Amino acid sequence: MTMLDAAADRLGSVSSGNALELRGVTKMFGALAAISDITLSVRPGERRAVLGSNGAGKTTLFNCVTGDFLPTSGTIRLFGEDVTAFPAHERIRRGLRRTYQISLLFGGLTVADNVYLACRGVSRSRFSLVRPRRGDPLLIRAAELIEAVHMTASRHAMVSDLSYGQQRQLEIALALAGAPRFILFDEPAAGLSPTERQELVAILTGLPRHIGFIIIEHDMDVALRVAENVTMMHNGRIFKEGTPAEIEGDPEVQALYLGGGHD
Ligand SMILES: Nc1ncnc2c1ncn2[C@@H]1O[C@H](COP(=O)(O)OP(=O)(O)O)[C@@H](O)[C@H]1O
Ligand SMILES: [Mg+2]
Repeated sequence: MTMLDAAADRLGSVSSGNALELRGVTKMFGALAAISDITLSVRPGERRAVLGSNGAGKTTLFNCVTGDFLPTSGTIRLFGEDVTAFPAHERIRRGLRRTYQISLLFGGLTVADNVYLACRGVSRSRFSLVRPRRGDPLLIRAAELIEAVHMTASRHAMVSDLSYGQQRQLEIALALAGAPRFILFDEPAAGLSPTERQELVAILTGLPRHIGFIIIEHDMDVALRVAENVTMMHNGRIFKEGTPAEIEGDPEVQALYLGGGHD
């Protein structure tokens, strides 16, 4: 590619205005293609669900977007910028956040301390050095985030005393710290009771509109209620894209879900 081509390419993707743009992304593990030739765009503020059975490649897709894995081929653009080779922290600096399928919370602190520290952007091990003072504006910010995930009543609880569902809610608050522009949620409804799922749907639909997100879900119900658009994956490839109504009414999707492709 010439310098001029590269500049034109960069301009082209800036003007396309997508929050996230994947082109031909493939990730191989040995001979296994965990994802193959994924091309996908998500607009700023858009709420997208990625559905698919176990092993479809959903988490691998997230790992490539966050920089936890380098893709084997293809390009990834974040707000117009080619971040394919960027380390994870450079993507975080540009407003990308994620939650994990398995909790990474630290149990020995309260809800409020966890969120305050995420707002400070410091590691938990240095907590004793950064005890908040009264009037610290980040305390107010932390309180707002705790409210956004419906946890004000539990703000002084130790994380280790929270229910599993509350821990998942707290993870969302941590992902909201530090002005994110785009969040990847990896199966936030996994292991939640029906009541907790309702709560989760309310939290996600109540997020600020400028924050786009992708939610990976196993549970079609949750995904179809929070997302404007749905991407269905199967065997590492995009199988179908559409609105929740289109996906729900699609005979091929139904066959895949009812025919044992989904567990
Ligand atoms: N780190 C890894 N090493 C080897 N194989 C992996 C790794 N991560 C995922 N895979 C494989 O890639 C495929 C897709 O996995 P994954 O992305 O976790 O799917 P999903 O999240 O949709 O359940 C699976 O066959 C899985 O075993
Ligand atoms: Mg997964």
